[in-house]
Amino acid sequence: MSILFVFSLFLLLNVPKSCIAEKDYEFFMLAQQWPKGYCNRMGVQCKSRPNKFTIHGLWPQGLNGQLLTNCDASSSLSHDDIKTVEKQLYSNWPSLIGRDFDFWSSEWKKHGTCSEKEFSKLEYFETALHNHAQNDLMGILKRANIVPNKKQLYNISSVVAAVHQHTQHQPHLVCYFDALRNVSALYEIGICYEEDGKSYKNCLDPHGTCYGTELIYPK
Ligand SMILES: *[C@@H]1O[C@H](CO)[C@@H](O)[C@H](O)[C@H]1NC(C)=O
Ligand SMILES: *[C@@H]1O[C@H](CO)[C@@H](O)[C@H](O)[C@H]1NC(C)=O
Repeated sequence: MSILFVFSLFLLLNVPKSCIAEKDYEFFMLAQQWPKGYCNRMGVQCKSRPNKFTIHGLWPQGLNGQLLTNCDASSSLSHDDIKTVEKQLYSNWPSLIGRDFDFWSSEWKKHGTCSEKEFSKLEYFETALHNHAQNDLMGILKRANIVPNKKQLYNISSVVAAVHQHTQHQPHLVCYFDALRNVSALYEIGICYEEDGKSYKNCLDPHGTCYGTELIYPK
């Protein structure tokens, strides 16, 4: 093989990677689930329902909130990668329906790999834990007199405003439709961050999947 051939092969193999290296995602959303709501949805069988918001995931997003997924099939999580934060993960990032490690591992594969150039495995999990700790949503809502209740209806804009009060930015609410009560029911709240994973940023759609003007915050 000529040196020239080897050199051009080298260029060819490297082109795709360097093309996408610059800007692989635009911002993050930290999704925290409300177990009582999450588990009340039809067809969901939970093994535990902690009485606090727990981490669902930290999701790198593309332009206009386009969800990026499965960016590196060859990257998989091992216990060793997260040994130093495993205790915190069990408490703050539990799977409500399956094995905890499997949950972290699938979140890493599906989402974490999309910011892997900026955040190593450990940094990714540490960032999620740190941001979760900075945003105790149950306490944040309680300060606005929004507390879990089977029947009470809360103005959706007031729920958004309560989170805004804490972050100075718009969150993203996620609801399921409670057909029995004919109303939206809260089960997740997203908080958005700039590319650095630190500075807050407005989420694109505050009311998210919460239809109507009011919601319940299931107890
Ligand atoms: C809900 O809250 C918003 C903002 O705080 C307010 O403008 C609106 O009138 C409220 N809606 C109802 C139905 O109370
Ligand atoms: C359900 O709620 C919507 C809006 O709040 C209302 O317009 C509709 O009439 C309700 N449907 C039933 C069956 O109560």
